[in-house]
Amino acid sequence: MCAHLDWHAVHYVKVLLDRVFGPENFLNEIIWSYRTGGTSPRWFPRKHDTLLIYARCLGRHTFHAIRAGTYRTDGLNRDEDGKPYKNTRSGRLYFDARGPLVTDVWEVPFLSTVSDERTGYPTQKPLALLCRLLLAFTNPDDLVVDPFCGSGTTLVAAEQLDRRALGCDIISEAVHLTNRRLGTLGPRRSDQATR
Ligand SMILES: C[S@@+](CC[C@H](N)C(=O)[O-])C[C@H]1O[C@@H](n2cnc3c(N)ncnc32)[C@H](O)[C@@H]1O
Repeated sequence: MCAHLDWHAVHYVKVLLDRVFGPENFLNEIIWSYRTGGTSPRWFPRKHDTLLIYARCLGRHTFHAIRAGTYRTDGLNRDEDGKPYKNTRSGRLYFDARGPLVTDVWEVPFLSTVSDERTGYPTQKPLALLCRLLLAFTNPDDLVVDPFCGSGTTLVAAEQLDRRALGCDIISEAVHLTNRRLGTLGPRRSDQATR
């Protein structure tokens, strides 16, 4: 289960979710860090949201580690082929070619005002954020449910990654928009958002 919140609500919701799922089933507090939006001269710019992740039952949950980005290799030794390594007691330690493990701080750009991805829905989230989330915590064919689907980004990510998708929203425009977005995707057509 993932709840996506900003600083207004996250601390209160964490306490509630601990009661519902049990604090022992809390997996991650993911900080989604971005740069766009306003600033204030009176405090640090508020540039992150929080994703609270719970397992229904710790140990029986799905998790796939993700690697992305590049290592800091300045000042390291280089071998004959130019590959960076660290000297350790047991010999040379090379870096994983797939990049470092993604941590619980995610730098994912917000949708720019001119992004092709933009639907016009005011609270739309970037597809890259939802894809990373689903890749980490779900398997192909899993059912992904977003009961507050908005523009449908979670459902679009699910379909793109071969998960099954189910969503709803209280606003009918959100449902129409989501179905439109899903309709432009490939053949998996059993899934629909509902109001
Ligand atoms: C933050 S937005 C979701 C944004 C979405 N992740 C996206 O990428 O567009 C939250 C959505 O919850 C919907 N909502 C609020 N209360 C609801 C309720 N009681 N039942 C269903 N949907 C609700 C709102 O209409 C809004 O579209």
